[in-house]
Amino acid sequence: MSELTMEKLVGFCKRVGFVFPGSEIYGGMGNTWDYGPIGIELKNNIKKLWWKKAVQESENSYGIDTSILMNPMVWKASGHLDNFSDPLMDCRECKTRHRADKLIEEYQRKTNNFDVNPDALDKAELYDYIIKHNIKCPNCGKLNFTEVRNFNLMFETNRGVSEDKQSKIYLRPETAQGEYINFLNLQRTTRAKIPFGVANIGKAFRNEITPGNFTFRTIEFEQMEHQLFCHEKDAKSFYDYYKNFAMEFFISLGIPKEKLKFKDHDKLAHYASAACDVHYKFPFGWDEINGTHLRGTWDLSRHQEFSGKSMAYTDPFTNETFVPTVVEHTIGCDRLALALLCNAYDEEVLEGGDTRVVLRFTPQVAPYKVCVLPLQKNLSEKARQVYKMLTKKFMCSYDESGSIGKRYRRQDEIGTPYCITIDFDTLNDESVTIRERDSMKQERIKINELLGFLTPKIEE
Ligand code: GAP
Repeated sequence: MSELTMEKLVGFCKRVGFVFPGSEIYGGMGNTWDYGPIGIELKNNIKKLWWKKAVQESENSYGIDTSILMNPMVWKASGHLDNFSDPLMDCRECKTRHRADKLIEEYQRKTNNFDVNPDALDKAELYDYIIKHNIKCPNCGKLNFTEVRNFNLMFETNRGVSEDKQSKIYLRPETAQGEYINFLNLQRTTRAKIPFGVANIGKAFRNEITPGNFTFRTIEFEQMEHQLFCHEKDAKSFYDYYKNFAMEFFISLGIPKEKLKFKDHDKLAHYASAACDVHYKFPFGWDEINGTHLRGTWDLSRHQEFSGKSMAYTDPFTNETFVPTVVEHTIGCDRLALALLCNAYDEEVLEGGDTRVVLRFTPQVAPYKVCVLPLQKNLSEKARQVYKMLTKKFMCSYDESGSIGKRYRRQDEIGTPYCITIDFDTLNDESVTIRERDSMKQERIKINELLGFLTPKIEE
């Protein structure tokens, strides 16, 4: 296969309906994307599969769905108002804004010179490195930057009509705070004993100014976050557990081990005392899809301090009273969808020299599980009956336009694992032809055996 570039993937996703550029008819808006009819199915599958592992199959684990907008005191207490920033500099020549650490990373990638880790440098050191290595503005090619300063990533908005200080609120930059501020409600209603976990899936917002590499870095994205409340003495073993939990989850979705690696953080967020990401080998290089964070008692203690409500937990067996420690595991749903797309994309040269684009998704991840195809339009009544039966169980598509070969190709390139063709014999023998995407093998099967054949392949 010719090399998969991000440019090729962006064009492909737009063409087949995975992802469209945000606000496209108005010339777009940087770092925003919309998911099309196939993309939303992919994301829904990812969220469902993660929820199954993180809540349904995890003992003493619960779900919650919290607000995007919260009392601004949440962000004062969490430390985001004071600490959640990126090191930015402006180009004095062309007035564009850049992240100093990302300029250095890009320079290091291009020159293959990884002499220092930009995450470990402070503002003055970042600036000195850029000057010393003559790193120019990527927009205008000049070297005339302002000094590096901290730029808070939270989006602000105003509640009500006035724009005074009191009305200022923030769009959440992480979903996790929703779990912390509900700790008392969660504990009371679940009657859960520590250790217990809480999962939250939802949108988060960050005022990112660096180019995003498609959906890798956007200003609005979805997080799947899980907070484990435990005793401090157990935190390290849960931290290791959740590092592996994430890695195994990605492998279970079909990403090969060789394309994944752990990466410890050199620079820790203000709330973490240890952090380890899983990186995937994207076409633009290794980068983060998830993080496991040892947040200790930072969040609950700070909310205790700022709200005046006790976050203490009394162990019913030992009678010890303490503020629980938190181990967080968090996955960017959009980054995982992007990794799965990159991993699945293949251009296969067939016998005879033709090339087919095929997305080799596992059936669990694939947007559509089955496509029903009448060989000719006058078979559509029977085909629709089969389609209706299958839609009760799976996400299916139906296609009756174009040659059968073209229709198979259309399903290959969106990753549909099974195509079912209705032909004239079907009317007599109640059988259909089922074609498997990767092997392209076809077999004949009775309609009343279809669900029994497909269900274990698609759901397990
Ligand atoms: N609650 C902890 C937290 O938010 P994070 O490492 O800043 O930690 C978690 O973010 C995950 O969210 C990342 O691993 C990444 O997958 C995703 N993420 C973060 N910023 C993003 C962005 N601008 N665009 C898309 N995904 C992003």
